[in-house]
Amino acid sequence: MLGRLNHVAIAVPDLQAAAATYRDTLGAAVTEAQALPEHGVTVVFVDLGNTKVELLEPLGENSPIAAFLVKNPAGGMHHVCYEVDDIVAARDRLVDCGARVLGDGEPKTGAHGKPVLFLHPKDFLGTLVELEQV
Ligand code: CO
Repeated sequence: MLGRLNHVAIAVPDLQAAAATYRDTLGAAVTEAQALPEHGVTVVFVDLGNTKVELLEPLGENSPIAAFLVKNPAGGMHHVCYEVDDIVAARDRLVDCGARVLGDGEPKTGAHGKPVLFLHPKDFLGTLVELEQV
């Protein structure tokens, strides 16, 4: 069921500083910041060739990463995103296995314009898991 690692998302309090760390200290290719108001984040993509890191800064009042940054003020790994071929089939299998899907359980359009779901971190080793249909 599980395909490639699509991205690792890191929540950060200061996106420009985080982008500079990846660009200048780590020597990575980073994009310009993109505001995604419908997702409550501003994002910088770090292209690693085989996968991506996404640096996420809260945007707006109801950002989904705001509470995470209260608990982790220096930032931290927020989620991992794995690719699946069929997100509804993946969801149904996971629900049958007793895993909890966040929200109403229906796929939403993610930051890359593709259907995504999030899985409860308590069911996956303390890690928030995003599934993206590719
Ligand atoms: Co993501």
